[in-house]
Amino acid sequence: MLRTPLILFLAPLTTHAQTLYEALSKQPTLSNFTAFYQSNSAFASALFANKSNYPVTFLAPNDDAFASYQNATGTPLTDLPPETLLELVQYHTLVTNLSAENFTKSGAAGFTTPTLLTGEAHNNRSVGAALASKYGGPGRASGQVVFIKNADSGSSKARRFWLSTRQDGGAQNTVRSGLSSNVLITPLDDSEGTWEGGRFHIVDGLLTPPEMCSDTIRNAKLTGLDNALNRSGLWTALDSSKNVTCLGPNNKAFGDAGSPDAKLNETELAGALLFHTLPEVAYSDFLEDGQEFTSLQNGTVRVRVEGEGKERQIWFNNAKVVDANVLTHNGLMHVLDAVMVPLEQMNATTSATPSGTSSATASPTSSTSPSPAATCEFRDGVEKGKGGGEAATSYRLQEGRM
Ligand SMILES: *[C@@H]1O[C@H](CO)[C@@H](O)[C@H](O)[C@H]1NC(C)=O
Ligand SMILES: *[C@@H]1O[C@H](CO)[C@@H](O)[C@H](O)[C@H]1NC(C)=O
Ligand SMILES: *[C@@H]1O[C@H](CO)[C@@H](O)[C@H](O)[C@H]1NC(C)=O
Ligand SMILES: *[C@@H]1O[C@H](CO)[C@@H](O)[C@H](O)[C@H]1NC(C)=O
Ligand SMILES: *[C@@H]1O[C@H](CO)[C@@H](O)[C@H](O)[C@H]1NC(C)=O
Ligand SMILES: *[C@@H]1O[C@H](CO)[C@@H](O)[C@H](O)[C@H]1NC(C)=O
Ligand SMILES: *[C@@H]1O[C@H](CO)[C@@H](O)[C@H](O)[C@H]1NC(C)=O
Ligand SMILES: *[C@@H]1O[C@H](CO)[C@@H](O)[C@H](O)[C@H]1NC(C)=O
Ligand SMILES: *[C@@H]1O[C@H](CO)[C@@H](O)[C@H](O)[C@H]1NC(C)=O
Ligand SMILES: *[C@@H]1O[C@H](CO)[C@@H](O)[C@H](O)[C@H]1NC(C)=O
Ligand SMILES: *[C@@H]1O[C@H](CO)[C@@H](O)[C@H](O)[C@H]1NC(C)=O
Repeated sequence: MLRTPLILFLAPLTTHAQTLYEALSKQPTLSNFTAFYQSNSAFASALFANKSNYPVTFLAPNDDAFASYQNATGTPLTDLPPETLLELVQYHTLVTNLSAENFTKSGAAGFTTPTLLTGEAHNNRSVGAALASKYGGPGRASGQVVFIKNADSGSSKARRFWLSTRQDGGAQNTVRSGLSSNVLITPLDDSEGTWEGGRFHIVDGLLTPPEMCSDTIRNAKLTGLDNALNRSGLWTALDSSKNVTCLGPNNKAFGDAGSPDAKLNETELAGALLFHTLPEVAYSDFLEDGQEFTSLQNGTVRVRVEGEGKERQIWFNNAKVVDANVLTHNGLMHVLDAVMVPLEQMNATTSATPSGTSSATASPTSSTSPSPAATCEFRDGVEKGKGGGEAATSYRLQEGRM
């Protein structure tokens, strides 16, 4: 039996690296993607047979992912224009060689990983030094990212969690992509998930290429933030800037702060929003306790990190991150449980402090005098600024800066 032609024929496949197509075809849950690959072999091969892209890890959407897409949109995925399909496949391709162990041992802090998706429509950001050095330099790491972390088994995804626990009961991971979307990943061990360009693993939904802040914020139903951005007229500036971290208070935070989105005037709102905007891309896994950022409004924002693994929690000034790494085409948003107060006022401002009693302490360190927007607080509808006559001027400056 051992000498049958069948065995002789199969032997090389186990000793020589196989193509991605060959490897995918062996997975019964990937029949739709395998067919998709076959009918788009021109661009698929350009991506996966191009050795200068190696090593990569491909996140292969399973048949449920195709069915869900068709269910949700009413049309098959394959009806999308070729450019869109190419972007989608690029976004499912991580520029590193990740084994199953990389997921199971990732630790609950999670990790940001660049992909091959580089087009400006979904990636108007430049890679920071830390991410670049982890992933082979700025050229290699410049694509849009996904964020991989341990799945929260307490979430409503319990059923899918259970279904995809097919390995050894190890930690399950989710992949976060655009529009706050999370899909579950089923890591394959090396006997199944290896091909000549690296590895592949299975995801149970399609990744969503990150969209503009406006679409992302509205999709997340952050109506307080939406209203504030509408009224301040900062949407265009926010959507068309590069390298932005938006610290977005959630709706409860706006309510707790006395609805500043409705009560502050445009100038105050603009200043407050700029205080909540950092001019660089700060993914949660790279944040360190004590780290400081200068916001677009020039106020200092200090990071606090407590705990490790699943217990890891992050604050910006007084505000706790309740949803980290909401990816956008030009950076990301961290959703906060409170409106941030200036660092200088943090100790003075406790929950017992009556609202509206704190006074402005604009940093006088810059050579220019503080503008109203730069000194106002995003709280209570109480104006903290000075020098009202400069309002319109400073507003334009800030918009230009963003
Ligand atoms: C997935 O593949 C099955 C079997 O070939 C086919 O019937 C189904 O239409 C495909 N679904 C999609 C969304 O392409
Ligand atoms: C192969 O990939 C490299 C790097 O991504 C790219 O510059 C080059 O154009 C690709 N070659 C082909 C033939 O697609
Ligand atoms: C498709 O939609 C129907 C009705 O909304 C639902 O019962 C079914 O589970 C969905 N299938 C998938 C694969 O999402
Ligand atoms: C994946 O695991 C390997 C081996 O432990 C390690 O060298 C590599 O840095 C890991 N990759 C990432 C992105 O963590
Ligand atoms: C990308 O950012 C630049 C500013 O750096 C802006 O001019 C351009 O319109 C942006 N492109 C997109 C697609 O958002
Ligand atoms: C953000 O983008 C700007 C403009 O491209 C660039 O100068 C800056 O270095 C980038 N910052 C980071 C942290 O990548
Ligand atoms: C991916 O890593 C494995 C070892 O972990 C190695 O055997 C394989 O050659 C690597 N693939 C590529 C394309 O570098
Ligand atoms: C903000 O403006 C957009 C466009 O005019 C509108 O669709 C949206 O409902 C507004 N958001 C809020 C919270 O009013
Ligand atoms: C922040 O500081 C810079 C440099 O000191 C200045 O050019 C800019 O106008 C300031 N921005 C605001 C909003 O005050
Ligand atoms: C608040 O008070 C603590 C302890 O007194 C001090 O360590 C910390 O630096 C203060 N924070 C600010 C923002 O002043
Ligand atoms: C905004 O409100 C503040 C305080 O109420 C005031 O000083 C400022 O002139 C107002 N700005 C505009 C543009 O109405």
